[in-house]
Amino acid sequence: MTRGSLERPVGVGLLGCGNVGAALVQLLADDSGIEARSGMRLRLAGVAVADTARQRQGVPPELLTGDADALVASDDVEVVVELIGGLDPARRLVEAALRAGKPVVTANKELLGTHGASLASLADDAGVDLLYEAAVAGAIPLVRVLRESLAGEQVRRVTGIVNGTTNFILTMMSDRKMDYADVLAEAQHLGLAERDPTADVEGHDAAAKAAIIASLAFRCDIGAPQVPREGISAIRPLDIAFAEQLGYVVKLLAVAERVDHLDRREPGRANGTGDPFDASGPPVPEVSVRVHPAMLPRSHPLAAVRGAFNAVFVEGESCGEMMLYGRGAGGKPTASAVLGDLLDAAHHLRAGTSATLVPRASVRLRPAADLRCAWYIAIDVADRPGVLAAVATVFGDHGVSIRSMEQVGLGDEARLIFVTHVAREGDVRTTLEALGSLDVVENIGGVLRVAGDDEEAS
Ligand code: HSE
Repeated sequence: MTRGSLERPVGVGLLGCGNVGAALVQLLADDSGIEARSGMRLRLAGVAVADTARQRQGVPPELLTGDADALVASDDVEVVVELIGGLDPARRLVEAALRAGKPVVTANKELLGTHGASLASLADDAGVDLLYEAAVAGAIPLVRVLRESLAGEQVRRVTGIVNGTTNFILTMMSDRKMDYADVLAEAQHLGLAERDPTADVEGHDAAAKAAIIASLAFRCDIGAPQVPREGISAIRPLDIAFAEQLGYVVKLLAVAERVDHLDRREPGRANGTGDPFDASGPPVPEVSVRVHPAMLPRSHPLAAVRGAFNAVFVEGESCGEMMLYGRGAGGKPTASAVLGDLLDAAHHLRAGTSATLVPRASVRLRPAADLRCAWYIAIDVADRPGVLAAVATVFGDHGVSIRSMEQVGLGDEARLIFVTHVAREGDVRTTLEALGSLDVVENIGGVLRVAGDDEEAS
């Protein structure tokens, strides 16, 4: 018998009982040896829901309550699990729990992406856990790896496929040569996409996760509103087909990376002085955090991540490259991550310790306009003499160098498909604006970043 099992059970208050909450209740009720494996006894003290009259399979009705505040305050509750989602009332309840000295486990990426740093400070002041493994990439133990295993690592870059819905849609568009709208409708039919898919397909969900990843990787406070974001709704099957022809797959990527290590040619740039002997203090790391679709070389480990799966590729100065892969959503996989945190929180509570990470480092965010990568740009133009020269001149005038160009005939029109050399994003944006005002340009269709290019990016 282990020490934990001799102690009284830790009382758990569950806020919210959707897919993940119901799966957690089942895992807790399932007599499959949580106590034997972990040495910890957990007791579900209550489940706060909006509608107590609704039956929930596997959830004892006597545990349901409509009063979440009272459940948080209850003496029977020592650890609070927040699975309501959204900002309110989740924030108020989480703050109340932390102020009362009760550890909190949450899967709420929106709450963490917006108020993560202040909640971590609150937890730290109270000396209790704020744990959120399930908030990023579901069952994949990424948060713990970044917080603990890589605590001494200088993380250079984290690149993630952290939204299963969009990865499913892009995989289907590629496999079946289907339009975005048709695949989205099928994903909705299969229950893989929400009725209102905006949060997933426009990158909001991934941006909140990118903010959390960056905050962990660089120990800094970055909120979701600071993360530039693009979604997948403008991607066409022909862009995916052309990417494949060039040896790439199209993925929605969440990226958090140090960009100052690329500026070592310019000593002192990181602290803004240009002076390598500047003694005004340690350099402030410069980072980029962003979400956008990109063409990824087929040889990249993330290119093999298909369907609704998630994966995160981590690069560090000492650890080198690693990839974590698994289920990023779904009731049971997400509940598995919540349960892991819950057991940690219970152990820490009994031991009088905490694993809360308070982001204390300062970073500078590099503006999107100053990021550098290669670009794929597909433009429909009138098929007349001089058009290609006019278009190419616009690229040249804005300092964007063309690496390759292919022309596809479309009757009276032609599609010009450019891949550029590495270029500054701001220059590419002004190029696109100038191209849009040329009479001969009918439509600027596909615009995608090319990731993992041989040339130095960022
Ligand atoms: N909607 C998300 C996804 C899961 O499709 O991956 C929850 O973050």
